[in-house]
Amino acid sequence: MNDSCRAARKPLPTLWSCILGASFVLLLVMFPESARGQETAAFFKQNCYSCHTINGGRLVGPDLHNVTKRKDREWLVRFMLNPQAMIDRGDPYAKQILDESRGVVMAQIAGLTRERAFLLLDLIEAESALEKSQFEGVKFSDRPFTAQDVFQGEQIFKGLTPLANGGPACMSCHTVRGLGLLGGGRLGADLTKVSERVGGRKPLSAWLVSPATTTMQPVFKLHPIEPEEILSLVAFFEDSAKRVGDDDSVAPLTFFLIGLAGMVLVLGLFDSLWKNRFRAVRRPLVSGGEMRTDA
Ligand code: HEC
Ligand code: HEC
Repeated sequence: MNDSCRAARKPLPTLWSCILGASFVLLLVMFPESARGQETAAFFKQNCYSCHTINGGRLVGPDLHNVTKRKDREWLVRFMLNPQAMIDRGDPYAKQILDESRGVVMAQIAGLTRERAFLLLDLIEAESALEKSQFEGVKFSDRPFTAQDVFQGEQIFKGLTPLANGGPACMSCHTVRGLGLLGGGRLGADLTKVSERVGGRKPLSAWLVSPATTTMQPVFKLHPIEPEEILSLVAFFEDSAKRVGDDDSVAPLTFFLIGLAGMVLVLGLFDSLWKNRFRAVRRPLVSGGEMRTDA
């Protein structure tokens, strides 16, 4: 660019190309900056907002308002990249924030790089300086739960009422004690006491807006759970936490027995199918044979 600008002192067309070139370079420099800022905000919303607000109070994790004033950036980035390692190392500050979070360890976030972690801290710092951050927290209704909410939540959990945006039934991966014979899936956690574990209605509701586990995130990103559905589900979980006894141990055995019964049934079915088929094939063969001897 320098060369073309020096040349631009005389002929007019070259001056124009110099200005054009310069503004193009300026665009190139400025545009990725704002695009990156937007990308970082989108990343925060998708991966962090389910557990953290900025100046909206604690959810599963601490409020990140002014977090860079509480702890230096280098430490925070190392923590974000591998929370469990920092806790295992016996770091006293990590232990303190872990205790304040009722022992829930921050998940390792897929796609989080060192560079991105620093950009996220820039974002958090900028949002902390605002009077009202865009990450103040999603507002949920706080009306008291009714028996109808609990019932509706159970229907959704079991998949008897399908989720509006087409997400899979919770029960295909999770169980809640006292659900009845089938118990539910085992891929995800037992959710009987999940509302206590994460700290109550508000954190659990926020968590469900963008579930932050590697299994659930890709699925529910495309099929988000509606606010009314979240309310019902949380009502159901709060109720299930209150109801629990120690009647869980039935489910695995029940599964085994149902599996066994199913196998016997299928074997029986095959058996009779084969018999019928065998007869069906044999009959024409036999009569065919007779016809051939006749000819
Ligand atoms: C599943 C919930 C969850 C998600 C998702 C999550 N965090 Fe955390 N985060 C926590 C918890 C809980 C803590 C407190 C420390 C602990 O217990 O592990 C924490 C702590 C932190 C801290 C230190 C806070 C302090 O007060 O010093 C920072 C910074 C942080 N998280 C940033 C992030 C960022 C950025 C993301 C998204 C890339 C993110 N977290 C995603 C739960 C989460
Ligand atoms: C495709 C399987 C799958 C489906 C469907 C699914 N989950 Fe999950 N869920 C998981 C996995 C895996 C985890 C994370 C590992 C774990 O905590 O067991 C998880 C974790 C959770 C957690 C956090 C548990 C904790 O203790 O931190 C909650 C809450 C949760 N799921 C609620 C739901 C709800 C509500 C639904 C239905 C709307 C649902 N899940 C549907 C697989 C699933």
